Amino acid sequence: MKLTLKIWRQKNRNEKGAFVRYTVDDVDPEMSMLECLDVLNETLIERGEEPVAFDHDCREGICGSCGFMINGVAHGPERATTVCQLAMRHFKPGQELVIEPWRARAFPLVKDLVVDRSSFDHVIEAGGYISVSTGQAPDGNAILVGKDVADRSMDAAACIGCGACVAACPNGSAALFTGAKIAHLGILPQGQPERDDRGRSMVVQMNNENFGSCTNIGECTAACPKEIRLEVIAMMNHDYLSGSWRKRNDS
Ligand code: FES
Repeated sequence: MKLTLKIWRQKNRNEKGAFVRYTVDDVDPEMSMLECLDVLNETLIERGEEPVAFDHDCREGICGSCGFMINGVAHGPERATTVCQLAMRHFKPGQELVIEPWRARAFPLVKDLVVDRSSFDHVIEAGGYISVSTGQAPDGNAILVGKDVADRSMDAAACIGCGACVAACPNGSAALFTGAKIAHLGILPQGQPERDDRGRSMVVQMNNENFGSCTNIGECTAACPKEIRLEVIAMMNHDYLSGSWRKRNDS
């Protein structure tokens, strides 16, 4: 089938960007969105034009590298689907797709569809870890974890850090991302020793990174390709408040 792709082209953050229309013939319905861009890029390279820059790595919905807006929706129209998994059969022959990068103050543009998401790394560095002793691997049963607890932790740990939550949120908030990273450790017994510091430090870092505030709109969870639930934001707020309160009483 034939599709028209209206793609945001911008050489770097200092130059002005603009949409450019491209027609892609012979799009296989079973191709992914990224493969469709590959086909377009091959044509552009043959014509001596600059290919469209976009992030990708695993192409299996695991790594979180890929992501852009399609017709105003983060990762496109299919629920729980990254653009690397999004099959072109979900679009109609002749349809026009408007493709643009994540738009968020905390994600400055690098080129075309690529944005700098190192603000997420800074949030993780602020506390997204647990203490581990070196030496032999401990017995897996040394600390018992109930199935319901393990399941809730795994649900939060499914976050791939793609940034769709930030791009979908009208406030540009990273509360769903930060909440997922706080919750998946804080739910487990192994995550308790640093729980107070983690909640406080990661929220402070998130606020330092130019993300907006959460006002419980819920677009983040609707756009999330891993269906991270809003409850992680409640847990983030709990850990931030209790951590801040205990620090205040200790000092
Ligand atoms: S390329 Fe890894 S999630 Fe899409």
